[in-house]
Parts: sequence; C-alpha cells; structure tokens
Amino acid sequence: MTQQVRAVVARGKGAPVSLETIVVPDPGPGEALVKIEACGVCHTDLHYREGGINDDFPFLLGHEAAGVVEAVGEGVTDVAPGDFVILNWRAVCGQCRACLRGRPWYCFSTHNAKRKMTLTDGTELSPALGIGAFAEKTLVAAGQCTKVDRAASAAAAGLLGCGVMAGIGAAINTGNVGRGDTVAVIGCGGVGDAAIMGSSLAGAAKIIAVDIDDRKLATAKKLGATHTVNSKEVDAVDAVRELTGGFGADVVIEAVGRPETYRQAFYARDLAGTVVLVGVPTPEMKLELPLLDVFGRGGALKSSWYGDCLPSRDFPMLVDLYLQGRLDLDAFVTETIALDEVEKAFERMHHGDVLRSVVVL
Ligand code: APR
Ligand code: ZN
Ligand code: ZN
Repeated sequence: MTQQVRAVVARGKGAPVSLETIVVPDPGPGEALVKIEACGVCHTDLHYREGGINDDFPFLLGHEAAGVVEAVGEGVTDVAPGDFVILNWRAVCGQCRACLRGRPWYCFSTHNAKRKMTLTDGTELSPALGIGAFAEKTLVAAGQCTKVDRAASAAAAGLLGCGVMAGIGAAINTGNVGRGDTVAVIGCGGVGDAAIMGSSLAGAAKIIAVDIDDRKLATAKKLGATHTVNSKEVDAVDAVRELTGGFGADVVIEAVGRPETYRQAFYARDLAGTVVLVGVPTPEMKLELPLLDVFGRGGALKSSWYGDCLPSRDFPMLVDLYLQGRLDLDAFVTETIALDEVEKAFERMHHGDVLRSVVVL
C-alpha cells in the first residue's frame, strides 16, 4: 500500500523548491510512518538545495520535526501509532565500536528507512538527513522517533530535532558547563542562542554573547546572556578577558564556523578551559596556531556534533523542562508558515531576519 501526500521538493541545484505530490509507502520492518505536525527551516535544508551536501536530487527537504506516529512496521516496539514524537537524524546502530564503547553520539552507522518515497512518476526522493519532513507524512526508521510529552507544541518540540539541540548540547553535553562557570558564546544565531540557554540551564554564572550584529545581541540578552560584545566594534578576545577578571571564559562555544572566530574561541578561554566548536567550517578553511599556545594553554579543544545528544535521553528531558517553563523553546519560533512558504523562509534566513521559521501543518 502507498499513499499520496504534499511535500516540499528540491529538484535541482539552486532551483527554487516546489510543492509536489509524493508517494509514501507503508512502513516496512523497523520503520515508522509519521504524520508531520511541524518542521523548522534549517540552514542545512538550504545547503541541500544548493547541492552543497551531495548531488542526489530530487531532495525531500525538512528535518527538524515533530509529529504523530501513524503506523509502524514489523518488529517495532519502541514507538506505537498515536505516539507524539520528535524525529532525529541519528538513529544509533548499537553495534559499532562507538556504540559498544558507550559513545553512541559518535555512531556513524546510523540508519534510515529502507523503503523509498518517490515522486508520482516513480523517481526516488532523497530525504534530507534521512528525514524529509516538509511533508504531510514521511517514512523514517523507528529509531529516528523519540516519544515525548504530547502537551508540548509541535513547533517548539520539533526544534529539538536539530539546531536547538545542537546548541543546548554544545553547552550541556560537549562543554559540560557547570554551576558558576563563565561562558562565552561566539555567534548568536539559532545555534548560539540555544547554547546560551543551555549554559543558563546548567547554572553558568556569566554568559557573554559575542556577535557582529546588534540585533542578534539584543535577542541573546533576552534569552539569557548576561553580557554582550559587538566584535565589530571591539576585540572579542580582549572583551571576554576583561569581563572575566582578565582570565578568559571557562567554556567558549564557537557557533559561526569561520577561522577568525575559531581563533577568537581559542584565545578567549581561560587556561585549562574548554573550547567547543559547533559552527561547521567549509573544507577549504584553515587555521594556524602557535603550537606553544596549544601546549601551554592546556584544556580541551572539542567539536560538538548534533550537540553530542542522545535523543532518547535528551529530547524527553528538554521537552519536560519546556513544559515546566524552564526552557523557552517558543522564543526560537520567529514565525510559523505554511508548506508552500519554505522558499520565502530561505530568503529571510539568508538575511538573518529570523531565528526559526517553522512550517506548521
Ligand atoms: N563574529 C561573530 N559573529 C558572527 C561572525 C563573526 N565574524 N560572523 C557571523 N556571525 C554571527 C551572525 O551575525 C549570526 O548571528 O553568527 C551568527 C550565525 O547564525 P546563523 O547564521 O543563524 O547560524 P546558526 O543556525 O546559528 O548556525 C551557526 O552552527 O551548526 C552550525 O552549521 C551551523 O555553522 C553553522 C553554525
Ligand atoms: Zn553505532
Ligand atoms: Zn538542521
């Protein structure tokens, strides 16, 4: 059996996305069919459309989503029809070296649905990050579904599926921010702002937001930053040191993905502090550092991949904090849009006008 639904498809490199009818098969063994309720627009969707990830067009975009399980395939026991779930793009395998050594957040043998969704002419679709949730329904591996409290709004919950989790996790999982720590966050887009919230949740004493855009700094302050630095006007490293008694921050989180901000992150931390790199650089970017500084400053240089999250542990916990009023996920939802407005949302994202546009179905 199959069914037809509406979905946002990127047909070719750089071409505007279009609303299409797609064919979704029933879930096979280990798979789940999910009725999507909300899906955030992320930079990675735009990268797919621009051919920056790979050339497997046509893509079914969208990967930051929440919805309700409609049907499950053979052998699925962790989720059932009717469950409200957040989708994740890393269903861990449980068998690789990383999984067996207790570091499943480094599992690179992740799995997705095997059955293919197609256009009505039979052309196979490539779901973005193995999800493809700018669609009324999508087919995923059951392990990509994490059940959370139904009381949460789908728009807010879905954001935990990607960018917001990446930022919160950079602070609480990778950076291990603790009570009383000083934290600097360089780059205050959706990811950096989430890192600010995560740091605040973890009990940081000082949270210094660094950005080149005053609008971003104003939002960062609303979301929990205690101090702001416009690094277009002053030297970021000097400013962070000044605000931390001359030492530098215990944890510096880089959420831009550029050599100059990686360098700032390296020098803005205290001796023996931790640098967390969450901004994704491009392949040609390089950074030269004096080895004596790497050696002499000690501490840790870490990268954070999907916030080093474990969906089964982190999604329900963060949804609960949200429902208790301790984590303002709604603050990330700048606008809710319809399925046919994704192209417009890309434009707004490009201009830095929004934290998140969220498609609500
Ligand atoms: N110094 C400080 N801030 C900067 C600089 C700079 N040189 N250049 C850009 N910024 C700021 C922008 O003003 C913006 O507020 O960085 C922020 C980037 O935010 P977004 O473009 O909204 O990106 P976001 O979704 O937050 O992702 C940030 O994390 O996961 C990665 O791939 C993602 O590399 C990206 C990064
Ligand atoms: Zn694994
Ligand atoms: Zn994303």
